Formats: sequence, structure tokens, C-alpha cells
Amino acid sequence: MKTLKINLSTLFILLLITIGCKKAETNFTVHSPNTNILVEFALTESGQPYYTVHHKETLVIDTSFMSFDFKDLPPLKNNLKVINFTIGSTDEIWTMPWGEQLEVRNNFNELTVNLEEQSEEKRLLSIHFKVYDDGIGFRYEFPAQDHLKEVLITDENTQFNLTGDHTVWWIPGDWDIYEHVYNETKFSEIDALSKQNHPNLSATYIPENAVNTPVTMKTDAGLYLSFHEADLTNYAGMTLKVDHANLGMVSELVGSERLGGKAKLTVPFNTPWRTIQIGEKAGDLIESKLTLNLNDPNQIGEVDYFTPMKYVGIWWEMHIGKSTWDMEGSQDMSTWMEGKEGGSRHGATTENAKKYIDFAAQNGIKGLLVEGWNTGWDKWIDNDREGVFDFMTPYADYNFEEVRDYAKAHGVEIIMHHETSAAPLTYEKQMEEAYNFMKANGINSVKTGYVGKIIPRGEYHHGQWMVNHYHKVLVETAKKKIAVNAHEPIKATGKRRTFPNAIAREGLRGQEFNAWATDGGNPPSHLPTVAFTRMLAGPIDFTPGVFNIKFDEYKANNQINTTLVHQLALYVVIYSPIQMACDLPEHYMLNGKIHPAFQFITDVGVDWQQTRVLDGEVGDFVTIARQERETGNWFVGGITDENERIQTLTFEFLDDGKTYNATIYKDGPNAHWDKNPEAYEIENLELTKASSMDIPLASGGGFAISIIQNK
Ligand code: NOJ
Ligand code: CA
Repeated sequence: MKTLKINLSTLFILLLITIGCKKAETNFTVHSPNTNILVEFALTESGQPYYTVHHKETLVIDTSFMSFDFKDLPPLKNNLKVINFTIGSTDEIWTMPWGEQLEVRNNFNELTVNLEEQSEEKRLLSIHFKVYDDGIGFRYEFPAQDHLKEVLITDENTQFNLTGDHTVWWIPGDWDIYEHVYNETKFSEIDALSKQNHPNLSATYIPENAVNTPVTMKTDAGLYLSFHEADLTNYAGMTLKVDHANLGMVSELVGSERLGGKAKLTVPFNTPWRTIQIGEKAGDLIESKLTLNLNDPNQIGEVDYFTPMKYVGIWWEMHIGKSTWDMEGSQDMSTWMEGKEGGSRHGATTENAKKYIDFAAQNGIKGLLVEGWNTGWDKWIDNDREGVFDFMTPYADYNFEEVRDYAKAHGVEIIMHHETSAAPLTYEKQMEEAYNFMKANGINSVKTGYVGKIIPRGEYHHGQWMVNHYHKVLVETAKKKIAVNAHEPIKATGKRRTFPNAIAREGLRGQEFNAWATDGGNPPSHLPTVAFTRMLAGPIDFTPGVFNIKFDEYKANNQINTTLVHQLALYVVIYSPIQMACDLPEHYMLNGKIHPAFQFITDVGVDWQQTRVLDGEVGDFVTIARQERETGNWFVGGITDENERIQTLTFEFLDDGKTYNATIYKDGPNAHWDKNPEAYEIENLELTKASSMDIPLASGGGFAISIIQNK
């Protein structure tokens, strides 16, 4: 690891930051290291802070004001004065324990402006900017001070004023869930309130015309912007309220009715970073590591108890209604949604788990998730869900020890499942014992879940109280050496740098919606949009790999809206250190043998040395190449929306003078996501750095390539 810290000389600092006096204003500017991005900070004549952002010659964020409202205290807004400031610069490299690349460069210039209110209280506020080549971050720092000890923030008013009616890819600012289809509209046409009360969401609350982050935009001049936050700790999640008339956004924190505000804090404290990623190509947003860089370094030491892996699970079968979570047989997704009666079809039986273990062992898959193994599922969607789940007690037809031993003998790791049904206090009560139980049984990772409205009422999934719960889970699991994959989570904000036991999370409309959504499921453009929006936040447990696209045997009215080969490409396109092969073992068979396309899932890496976004446009298509750590092999995945297209590929990323064996998985000649989704072709050839090719992608289709070094 190479670490270089630069302390700039005063002379260079003066070149970097110019301080000019304009009448009543003091005005500061900070450039990115390559000077392409410029942030300007100043105070108005009445002493209100504001900032602007330029990219090259273009103004991308116009005058945007900053202020806070508090309960029982005057707003912190005007009458502020700069009392001093600090500046600095950092250029260092840190290593990811697992990730989409091994090394990350953290290179920025920074400015902290220390403000004092010109009043009797003399309240203090610092605003800290970090400017990178790929965007900016800033946060508010409330230093220790005499007249401010505790605050209840009722509003943080951070503006992001745009300079055009950009094209925006957005989901509504839901306080409870991110599981919405992305919308592509002009900024002036964002209508989040039209997304209220979606019938397939177990909890949803959209109080304003606001969007959730990351929200990605393209300007008419072709610049890409994405707005998000980094290091969301002990604070409320941020949505962005939309002001059509002024083409502006302002932070709208998720509230709490119990609190009567947004966030309660003891001074001193820092807010999360407000971030703006800026790219000249759409793919620059994916390659950007801004969010991670704005988080603190690893605080929990080695996470060698976690190995990136692919896994199968007793999971899809409940979502398509083949089996149930509970033993009595009523809790699959469609019986829940359609109010049907069940019958005894429990999925998590000893015998079924062994069937999955056999499949995994035979096909190079290292993990097995078992949902519905523990008691409580018969009541998990009732109104009173407190005390329902038990995280230690298996159902009578699931012999925990027998499955554990069988898995071990076959080299397969069990992944624990803790569905809390949004009753976090019940979970917190059992946590210690539940984690000890896992470790005693050799289980090192857990998938958590928070389906339903949060109990206690008045709290939301994305509010400060739940942010602190999700944090507590990371802290407690880290102590026990357990890795966490959270569903219905708080959004990823780069905390995996500090807590690398935060391996993946859901936080988007996952594959499961294709099994039971009543709105047609995820459209073919879903993942080409997710790659440039949700994926900028961090690893996604999307659970790809459905081969039986129509599953008519179980659900006549639902299907996957992509081709089979698009599903393969997702193992490269969607980054996660854990990737599920989510279909039923029998669906991976063709003519009595393992499906030839499954070989790609067996081969594909899950831990990467480097990542290159080769091509892409938000919402249309994306092609990504990733090099596996350890082996040096490359994998390329490309997906398209409903439009078929040709992807021209070159292989400059391969090593000089080497020949590689490539296997290309392509959509079959007449493949189509709806009319002919399972048609595929497999081709083997040799590749070198000089090779090039044109690959056709079907409507809703994709391609996947494994590139193995010749020994
Ligand atoms: C919702 C999760 O997203 C899904 O993966 C899980 O199967 C169910 N909750 C039950 O926990
Ligand atoms: Ca979910």
C-alpha cells in the first residue's frame, strides 16, 4: 500500500484558495486536484452561507443557501461571520479488503470555514468542503460551544440549485422503502406524490414531492450529475425536495413523529457529507469512489471471517409460491398478497436444504441461505409483530444440526436469516444470543430483513432512530465477527469502508418483485438504470440468475422481463461481494444435465482487482469489465433495456503479449425478453489485447464473457 500525504506550502495554498473581499462578503474557492471542479463558498450581506459549483467553465450548481431550523431555538441562518478557516490537501491510496477494486486513490483539496453567529449566543458552525476530481462533498460540523449543548433539528435546508431542466432518473423520497421502479423524466416533471401507496409495498410513506438519493441527472450539454450522501451516522436519511419553478432541490430529512423533528443531537457533532458526483461519461459515475473516500478508514480490523462468494437459497421458491416460509403453509408471497389459503408446503425442511447443498457442492457455489428455518413466520405480517420472531428456534421439520453438518461436509457455508418484520426492539433483545448461536454453529454471515411498518409507530425505516439501529447491528456483529447483508435497509453511504462487515444490502426493487408484483415487475430498463443510480451507493444484493424466465408452472401472470443471458451479465454488471444464483436447482437443469449457461455463474468472480466501465448510457445500456483478484481473469457483462443494440468491444485492458481463452454467452438469434427469453448461444475463442468484436444484444438482453488466462 502506498500512502502519500501532501502538506501544501503556503504559497501553493494561496494558488488553490483565493480569498477576496467583496463589500460585505468574504469569498472562498477550492479547486479539485485536476482543477476541473471549482467550489465557491461565501456569505450574503445578511450573513447567510451559500455555495456554487463549476465544472470547467460551466456553472452546475447555482447559488445554493444553507441553514438549519431547530425546535425551541432560532434558526441558524443569517448573521454569520467567518472567524477563520483551514485548508489542506490529501493524496493517499487505501486498500479494500474486498471490493470492486483493490486500491482506491483518495485525492482531494479541502476547506473548512468556521462561522460564528453575530448574536449574544455566538453559536458556532463549521462547513467543511472536500473537492475531488470526480465530485464534491461537504458537511456541517457543530463544534463544542458554550451556548449550544443539544439540538432537535426540525429541518436542514441545504439547497442544490440546478442550472437547467435536466433529465433525471429518480425514485420517490419514500421514508420507508427504496423499492420503487426508477422514473426517467425532466426535472420539471418529477411527480413523486403520484407514487404514493403502491399496493406491493409493505410500508411506504411519501409525504412530499421529493426524491431519494442517489438521484442521477444528465444536463443538455451531456454532463452527468448524481446527488447522494456519505457516512450517514446518527442522523436522519436525506431526501431531496423538488422545486419545479426554480429548478432547485432542498434537503428534506426523514422525520420521526415520536421525536417531533428530524434528528436529535448532542453538540459537538457532524452531519453526513452531502455529495455531488460529476462525470463527463455516464460510466465515470460508476468508477467514482467519492462516497467511500468520504467515510472513515476501517475501524473493525481484518474481516477474514468473510469470503466473497456466490450462494443459493431456499428463497425464490417462496416468492413464486412453490413453498412457504412457515410450517403451516400460508406464508408465501402470493398467499399474502392474494389472501389465498396455503397447505403444508414448508420450504425450509432438512431434506430440501440438503438438496440445495448438493446442488451448490456440485456447481462450485459456496453459500446457502435458508429462509423460514426459524419460528415466527405464521405471524410475521400481523399488526402486532413485537415478540413474534425467535432467532434461535428452528421449525420441527428443520434439523438445524443435521443441515449444519451436511453443509460442512460438502464445503458449503450456511448464511443465517434474521427477518425482524420491522420490529427492531424484538431483534435487539435477542441479538447477543442470536449472534452467539450463529458463531457456535460456525455461521459467519447473516441476511437481515425489515419488512413492514416500523414498530414503534412514528418511526420510519430511514429516520435517525432506525439509522442508529442499523448501525448498532453493524457494531454488534463486528464484535462477533459476523458479516451483514441487510434487506429493507438504510441506504448505503459508504460505511462499508469503516465497517467492512457491511457486505451488501438490498435497498432497491430486487428480483423478488418479478415473482409477485402486480404492476408487471421490473422493466427491461431497470438494471441499466440501477447501475447508474442505486449502485453508486454500494454493493447490491439483487439476487440475479433466473433461468426459468416465465415460471408459468407457478405464476402465470409474472415473469422476468429480461433474457436469460441478461441475467448472466448481472453477475458482472451489478457489484456485490455476495451474488445469489437465485433460481430453483431444477430450473438450472436442461435435458437432465446442468444448463450449459450455468458454467458462467460457476466461473464468474466475486472479488475484484479492478473495474472498468467500457460503455453505457443511464437507463439504456451498460457494459462493465472486472478483473478477478487472485486469478487475474477478466469477466465482461453487458445489458440493454427494451432496445436491441450492437456492442462493439475492444480488449485493451488485457495484458500485453498474453493469449486468453474466452467463453462468450450471447442472446440467441431470435431472443427477446418476452417472446423468446431463454434463447442463448455459447462461443469459445482466443482473445488478445488487440482483439475486437461486435456483440448483438436482444431486446431486454445482454452478454457475458469469461476471459481466462492461458496457463
Ligand atoms: C424481503 C426480502 O427482500 C426478501 O429477500 C425476503 O425473502 C423476505 N423479505 C422475507 O424475509
Ligand atoms: Ca425487499
